[in-house]
Formats: sequence, C-alpha cells, structure tokens
Amino acid sequence: MLYSEKVMDHLHSPRNAGKIEDANGVGEAGNVTCGDIMRMYLKVEDGVIEDVKFETFGCGSAIAVSSIATEMIKGKPVSEAAKLTNKAVVSALDGLPPNKIHCSVLAEEAVKSALEDYYKKSGETPAQSE
Ligand code: FES
Repeated sequence: MLYSEKVMDHLHSPRNAGKIEDANGVGEAGNVTCGDIMRMYLKVEDGVIEDVKFETFGCGSAIAVSSIATEMIKGKPVSEAAKLTNKAVVSALDGLPPNKIHCSVLAEEAVKSALEDYYKKSGETPAQSE
C-alpha cells in the first residue's frame, strides 16, 4: 500500500483542524513547487502549548502531517515543540512515500514559524523557555 494506515486515518479524520482566533503564535510554511500552504495557530500559556490548530491548503499528506504534528506538540512546553522534526513526524505516521517527504517538511517549518511568532510577541527568547 502506498500510504500507511496512520496516514489514511489522519487524512480522513484530521485532528485539530481549524483556526484559533486568539492565537499568540501564528506561522506559515509553503512549498513553491507544489504550491501547498500550511498555517499553524498556537495558544501558549505559561510556556505550554495549550491549544494548536492548523489550516492546510494542500495535498493529503500535508493534511496528515499537519494533523499528527498538532497531536505531537499539544500540551508540550514550547522548548520541546521547537525540537519537532519532519523525521519525527514521518515516523509517527509510519512513513511516507519518498515523493511526499517534502510535505512533512512543511509541518516542521510551520510549527517553527509559529513558535518564532510566539517568541516575538511574548518577548521571550528560546533560551528562557528551556
Ligand atoms: Fe506538496 Fe504535499 S505535495 S505538500
């Protein structure tokens, strides 16, 4: 099978899809080749990601990686979420076809961009949140 059961599951029932109106960290990542765009909204309280949602305009794998990435960082300290890698996302999904690996890179980039926005808005630095 081309896609793992986990990918199919997250694709058909994405977790945490949507938008957070009062997010204090918003980030976006896109891929110029396929034109897909992913947006991440974070609600951080006391250095912990209380809520996270995503909006993804892209392929099925991009939706699956967004969904699992939100599950992986929800409830975690920002310092830990900052360590999320596309490799970790791919292995949490039991793999992706080689031509879909770039979709997982969007998840890592969107989370990092949302964290950067959070740091900018809060005045905190990554070192302080360690
Ligand atoms: Fe580009 Fe999936 S094909 S993000």
